[in-house]
Amino acid sequence: MAKEGAEKADETEQMIEKEGGKEAAEGSGGGSSSLRAGDTKEMRAVLLSGFGGLNKLRVSKKVMPEPQEGELKIRVKACGLNFIDLMVRQGNIDNPPKTPLVPGFECSGIIEALGDSVAGFEIGDRVMAFVNYNAWAEVVCTPVEFVYKIPDDMSFSEAAAFPMNFVTAYMMLFEVANLREGMSVLVHSAGGGVGQAVAQLCSTIPSVTVFGTASSFKHEAIKDSVTHLFDRNADYVQEVKRISAEGVDIVLDCLCGENTGKGLSLLKPLGTYILYGSSNMVTGETKSFFSFAKSWWQVEKVNPIKLYEENKVIAGFSLLNLLFKQGRSGLIKGIMDKLITLYNEKKIKPLVDSLWALEEVGKWLPPPLLFLKFIK
Ligand SMILES: NC(=O)c1ccc[n+]([C@@H]2O[C@H](COP(=O)([O-])OP(=O)(O)OC[C@H]3O[C@@H](n4cnc5c(N)ncnc54)[C@H](OP(=O)(O)O)[C@@H]3O)[C@@H](O)[C@H]2O)c1
Repeated sequence: MAKEGAEKADETEQMIEKEGGKEAAEGSGGGSSSLRAGDTKEMRAVLLSGFGGLNKLRVSKKVMPEPQEGELKIRVKACGLNFIDLMVRQGNIDNPPKTPLVPGFECSGIIEALGDSVAGFEIGDRVMAFVNYNAWAEVVCTPVEFVYKIPDDMSFSEAAAFPMNFVTAYMMLFEVANLREGMSVLVHSAGGGVGQAVAQLCSTIPSVTVFGTASSFKHEAIKDSVTHLFDRNADYVQEVKRISAEGVDIVLDCLCGENTGKGLSLLKPLGTYILYGSSNMVTGETKSFFSFAKSWWQVEKVNPIKLYEENKVIAGFSLLNLLFKQGRSGLIKGIMDKLITLYNEKKIKPLVDSLWALEEVGKWLPPPLLFLKFIK
């Protein structure tokens, strides 16, 4: 991150923490400048007017939502900007919702109101939450089962960078692949939000070897978190085999396409391959049907008989589907409790690449280094 950007991020961070502390002290936050829009029951939000480039995003006034039964109303302090948001902007996801829409799947902030029959939270609580769209707004309402209290020493911007990256990484490593002492893991996009969460969680288990691919310019920044780093364009199959002839125990693949076959070929007996993304379909500012078709064409056709003969496991993982379509919020709540314990024990820490104001929406570019988060 450029020095200018880092200084700006520090300044902005201090600003949100100051504002957040003030509102928490005021309970419902009444009287602070960020409530001016609330008085007229309007709020600012980032609106995606149609699928496409950055020019499709703009800050707009919207009617402020009020909590329905079982929901919490959150005065947002910071939101996560994840790769999935970029894919949503381009319409590069399965069954995209209709535009105009407010993007964003996670945020942190202060509880401003409780819907009927909500228990376990109070007005003024500092929280982080998953939202099924609509997180990039000043105020968000979301069902209580998607909301988690923020540890005292976690900042709002850290909290906005926490749920998506760490739950995804934890679920894949421990729930799907059963990571244990002495195992090895290959992760693509190791410098990204999920990649860095994977690296940190692997370091909580003794003697885990992490192989990672990332653009070379990120290697200096992430070299301490990944045991063996390769350039994303290198022949990583050969590189991994040179270091570990038998391959690895777990492959985490967010580059659906030719990497699926390569990943499966790298698995040790009883190893697990997990597909969890298709970043490689994003090749420019807007959706490319050519890269979509290319990825689809290159996906390895998996033969179950071969899996049986070779003792290999293949899996898929989608956190958003698990949460919002398959009703597993209870499971995710248990995972968040474990992750918060690891955070309190100082074993993991969310990384924030940079902070951006809502008004700077037109300048939000693909993350220069790790991943990008923004604040209002
Ligand atoms: N299934 C789930 O539940 C779930 C949850 C969260 C995220 N994800 C997926 O996980 C992946 C990473 O997400 P994130 O939020 O951690 O991302 P991120 O922090 O934005 O990092 C993404 C990285 O992917 C690499 N990349 C970008 N475009 C690419 C392309 N066209 N081809 C190959 N590599 C490309 C780049 O790293 P390098 O240049 O260093 O390679 C980039 O920095 C995404 O595919 C996302 O959709 C899935």
